[in-house]
Amino acid sequence: MRGIILAGGSATRLRPLTLVSSKQLLPVYDKPMVYYPLSLLIELGLRQILVISTPEHRDQYERLLGDGGRFGIRLEYAVQDHPRGLAHALLLARPFVGDGPICLALGDNLFHGPGLPGRLRGALRRHRGCTLFSRKVAAPEQYGVATVDARGRITGLEEKPERPRSSLAVTGLYLYDNDALHKAAALTPSPRGELEITDLNRSYVGEGRATLVELGDDTVWFDTGTPDSLLDAAQYIRLQQQMQSEPIGSPADSAYRAGLIDRDALERQAPVLPLHARAPADPAGHRHGLLTEPQP
Ligand code: TTP
Repeated sequence: MRGIILAGGSATRLRPLTLVSSKQLLPVYDKPMVYYPLSLLIELGLRQILVISTPEHRDQYERLLGDGGRFGIRLEYAVQDHPRGLAHALLLARPFVGDGPICLALGDNLFHGPGLPGRLRGALRRHRGCTLFSRKVAAPEQYGVATVDARGRITGLEEKPERPRSSLAVTGLYLYDNDALHKAAALTPSPRGELEITDLNRSYVGEGRATLVELGDDTVWFDTGTPDSLLDAAQYIRLQQQMQSEPIGSPADSAYRAGLIDRDALERQAPVLPLHARAPADPAGHRHGLLTEPQP
């Protein structure tokens, strides 16, 4: 399975922060936003990842992340000339994806929780067709909302419904089989001129081939695309990192835990937390427990 991180778009809700800068390079506390989805994909076992950005920011991403070698993975880059939608960006990945399955992550979505990696890895193993991930939210009318049958098959998807039929918001992580590429190519632009990911997902729903995996209450999910959510996410990361023994959203640490790089390689990279504050290496890739004392 190949990974794609979407780091294009116009980021209007974060202007003026994004008049010059790319949204996904803005800091979420002590790291660029794109580190979080990248770290998650490494943690899930993806080793070939494409970063799609705007033409003007492409080189900045490459300067930041390189060819992926320091994380023990391969990174490639592509540009989307215009924000023509999430499904359009997927089309750009065709040469990179080949004929295999795809894991698509939005560059401004941040996930964290103790049970999360295990749940996602299970979903990757069971994946057929299209797999979406949902989180129960208090105000579903602000999100894409899914309804499901008893077996977890998606029966309907609605965009920002006035009267939501469930409280399950669809998050920015998507698994597709290779059919997604020809399905995306067959879409027509929506009234706002974009190839909509919801239309792509509905095509799988219509065939009964879309599954919803609910992320539990122990999972935290941020769409960091507004000033408030960006600040909330930063404060969350700060607090969590003060209480635990390893940084959140650090691709180098994820690579180290996955056994892709050794401790020397980890130490050569700009540390997010002082190395002495980390728990000892655990080649099995298990999460470490909390430290009793918060780190200074
Ligand atoms: P959105 O947050 O839906 O759109 P946006 O980033 O343009 O922001 P705003 O609504 O404030 O104008 O995009 C979700 C993610 O997908 C984000 O990481 C940007 C990325 N994206 C692309 O890569 N290409 C696109 O054409 C669009 C619309 C978004």
